[in-house]
Amino acid sequence: MSQHFQHDVLVIGSGAAGLTLALTLPSHLKIVVLSKGNLSNGSTYWAQGGVAAVLDDTDTIDSHVQDTLVAGAGLCQEDAVRFTVEHSRAAIQWLIDQGVPFTRDDKSDHEDGFEYHLTREGGHSHRRIIHAADATGAAIFNTLLEQARQRPNIELLEQRVAVDLITERKLGLEGQRCLGAYVLNRGTSEVDTFHARFTILASGGASKVYLYTSNPDGACGDGIAMAWRAGCRVGNLEFNQFHPTCLYHPQAKSFLITEAVRGEGGLLKLPNGERFMQRFDERAELAPRDVVARAIDHEMKRLGIDCVYLDISHKPAEFVKSHFPTVYERCLDFGIDITRQPIPVVPAAHYTCGGVVVDQHGRTDIPGLYAIGETSFTGLHGANRMASNSLLECFVYGHSAAEDIVQQLPDVTMPENLPTWDASQVTDSDEDVIIAHNWDELRRFMWDYVGIVRTNKRLQRAQHRVRLLLSEIDEFYSNYKVSRDLIELRNLAQVAELIIRSAMLRHESRGLHYTLDYPDQLPDARDTILAPPTFGD
Ligand code: FAD
Ligand code: SIN
Repeated sequence: MSQHFQHDVLVIGSGAAGLTLALTLPSHLKIVVLSKGNLSNGSTYWAQGGVAAVLDDTDTIDSHVQDTLVAGAGLCQEDAVRFTVEHSRAAIQWLIDQGVPFTRDDKSDHEDGFEYHLTREGGHSHRRIIHAADATGAAIFNTLLEQARQRPNIELLEQRVAVDLITERKLGLEGQRCLGAYVLNRGTSEVDTFHARFTILASGGASKVYLYTSNPDGACGDGIAMAWRAGCRVGNLEFNQFHPTCLYHPQAKSFLITEAVRGEGGLLKLPNGERFMQRFDERAELAPRDVVARAIDHEMKRLGIDCVYLDISHKPAEFVKSHFPTVYERCLDFGIDITRQPIPVVPAAHYTCGGVVVDQHGRTDIPGLYAIGETSFTGLHGANRMASNSLLECFVYGHSAAEDIVQQLPDVTMPENLPTWDASQVTDSDEDVIIAHNWDELRRFMWDYVGIVRTNKRLQRAQHRVRLLLSEIDEFYSNYKVSRDLIELRNLAQVAELIIRSAMLRHESRGLHYTLDYPDQLPDARDTILAPPTFGD
């Protein structure tokens, strides 16, 4: 039997964004946080490098803002950048207060008593990345989860897959408000109804749309697709970031080699040991990610090689092991001793810069619906996200969305008598092979046709194929019971279609969007905003 639940706040996603919001809301509110797998299955847990923030006396807000604007290739919204950076110190202090064990700097002689080690990553002109060795995400996640577990008003539910949002418009009621979501319980296989006064999409990015990705399996753009179907605009989805350095090994499943390795002196080399980055950019290994990923892609295609190499073996072994214990151990599992050997690396899809259009409080186009973290498009990242700015965005917007909810609480009542999910017309699928096949096909053509280097012809091919897939998936969805795989495939195909459409609309090369048909950057920087057919009804 499917069930009904009522909460003040429904948070879809248990990563940095969702947990921050839940912990920041007042403790008299009844909050539920959902994860479609285990609570730790988002990208947050895997974050390595750290969180960018202005923490050192020699650093300034203007400098962090300026670096972000430069990395974003003219497309960042400066007010969003300034807002985020101005709140960065408070966000880090909040994390320290929660108990996050950031790496301390023994040699620190800061007059202001700041005792944490700061590392450096591409695009940053200062050391400003606070971190917990090379496992920052796990340290943050474990701390925030521990805090959430101690709060009786926060319920944490695993194996719950949000299928679609419930809105007044969809129910044919007067008004536009979001009233909650339908959620598949993977334990009972029933779709339950979650009513809520406020619903938050904190469901991460969509990099799983590509064949090779640094992201965990759940990064399927569910929040972006759900928001789109509910009537929200999406922005700048053509800007998918490819991380330059994922471990190249058949069993490694795109394990990330943190950018901090380059920040601490790691050098990119060809198989013959020659460095190449200085031929592409004067900042060499510390150029922004789009530049480095494209340079690697270029060299791999030019020389017909499977990977390039990242070498930090010239640094003392103890330095390498203490700064990068996770990377060291993981590479050793594959027989690579990074204190003595270079690491084979390739680029892989890493971060969704665009997303659901929101304001500075994470408010979407639909009242009562917020989007925070990687799901959202705040204007911070522009055409290319600067390293370690994304976790920062999760914390800053997690707080600002919570503040907005508190302000609106008195005016918003609990929705009543919503219809339950109707499964009367569907049967169990006997053709799951179609789902598996379509997953593979989608991710492969996105990699081949909508990857690091694009052309009009490749985008047209991709568009043709994704439209065929969407109609097949629609038919499947109408006839068979929902499963996690089917829900994810439907969302991935929807987001792929939006990425391709956005890419086709951009007739220039800028930041992460590089096309051989329009190699130059246009003088005017414009966002690509798509509105669903129902927008403004
Ligand atoms: P996530 O942490 O991805 O969490 C998403 C949550 O949503 C999960 O709980 C998931 O189960 C849930 N969910 C999704 N869909 C549904 C659904 N339909 N129903 C129910 N639940 C759902 N950024 C930095 O700033 N610094 C770094 O050092 C850094 N390193 C990174 C390293 C790696 C390997 C990766 C992959 C990313 C890294 N990033 C880094 C990016 C950063 O980690 C992410 O952008 C950020 O963690 C996203 O947080 P989030 O809360 O938005 O989503
Ligand atoms: C990394 O550690 O290289 C990832 C940093 C990021 O994605 O911001």
